[in-house]
Amino acid sequence: NEAPLLDSFNRRITYLRLSVTDRCDLRCTYCMPQKMTFLPKAEVLSLEELHTLAMGFVERGVDRIRLTGGEPLVRRGIMSLVGSLCGQIGKGLREVTLTTNGTRLSEFAADLANAGVRRVNVSLDTLDGAIFERLTRRCRLDEVMAGIEAALSAGLSVKINTVALKGINEHEIPALIEWAHSRGCDITLIETMPLGVVDEDRTDHYLPLPGVVRQLEDRWALAPSQYKTGGPARYYDINATGGRLGVITPLTENFCAGCNRVRVTATGQLFPCLGGREQVDLRAALRSQNPAEELSRALDTAMHIKPERHNFRIGDDETEPPLARHMSMTGG
Ligand code: GTP
Ligand code: 5AD
Ligand code: SF4
Repeated sequence: NEAPLLDSFNRRITYLRLSVTDRCDLRCTYCMPQKMTFLPKAEVLSLEELHTLAMGFVERGVDRIRLTGGEPLVRRGIMSLVGSLCGQIGKGLREVTLTTNGTRLSEFAADLANAGVRRVNVSLDTLDGAIFERLTRRCRLDEVMAGIEAALSAGLSVKINTVALKGINEHEIPALIEWAHSRGCDITLIETMPLGVVDEDRTDHYLPLPGVVRQLEDRWALAPSQYKTGGPARYYDINATGGRLGVITPLTENFCAGCNRVRVTATGQLFPCLGGREQVDLRAALRSQNPAEELSRALDTAMHIKPERHNFRIGDDETEPPLARHMSMTGG
């Protein structure tokens, strides 16, 4: 079955975010609690299963795959999956990318580039070692910075992802933009999303991005850009710094009408929407008598139940209980 994946709102799904592990070597305060419980390793799909699963999506017209986590580079043997997926580029796949926290990029950058990865998104919320430690509960800023340099040296294009946080890194946003652009990297600011219970109240640090953009406009001319990656960011060109600034605004400016994606967890659960409760068990399909057929059928089910939009809210009266699932399960 090679029919394209169309959801009930006529959105074509062409982008898969595949989480290869829910584990991570950082503990970002907005993402997980200090004492995080991870999935039992026995429930996680093998690298071969992840490849087969990804191919089921490619057969149905998915042409971009982004590996996520947790932190994808802590998954043992990850390069064999990157290699086998990159082998499909040009045969249905257009790109294989990664979203990483950067701590292990020094070790992997050259291999990723050699395998055929062209760009990586690196999460970095601060350039200040003390704030990094407060935010990630780990002392690893130097490794991340070295990882970014290694990626650039290997010829990868690097986009920086920064979750904008009131009272934490708000004051550093201009400096982060200047630094990213000076390194030839685009940078995207992200509004914090209410996924999973953490040790803090996200309301305390929620920073609506339209106000941030207005403040930045006092400093630099921001020209709305036509540039698009297939992701939810809207971009501006900043001539003064010579780079692009993206904003991802799930709370203040909904972008779901243009949604092109689904995500799959490391245990093979498909989540049609980052903010939804619905899920489809692809592991059962994969391990059935008729994997190809069952997988394709499961994807059709996912298209039927994909909601029109998420219902994220921060701060005001929440009508529904918050989602229990952390971002580290669905990879964002
Ligand atoms: P590009 O291919 O570079 O555009 O990547 P991307 O921005 O789609 O992916 P990335 O992994 O860098 O994600 C950046 C942020 O966007 C993360 O915080 C994600 O959780 C968030 N994000 C990505 N896709 C979606 C989505 O469909 N809905 C929502 N609400 N957030 C998303
Ligand atoms: N809200 C917004 N972004 C988050 N990330 C992790 N948790 C959250 C959250 N609750 C970001 C990471 C990374 C990307 C994959 O998602 O910082 O950049
Ligand atoms: Fe798509 Fe759901 Fe993300 Fe909106 S929140 S863009 S519908 S996955």
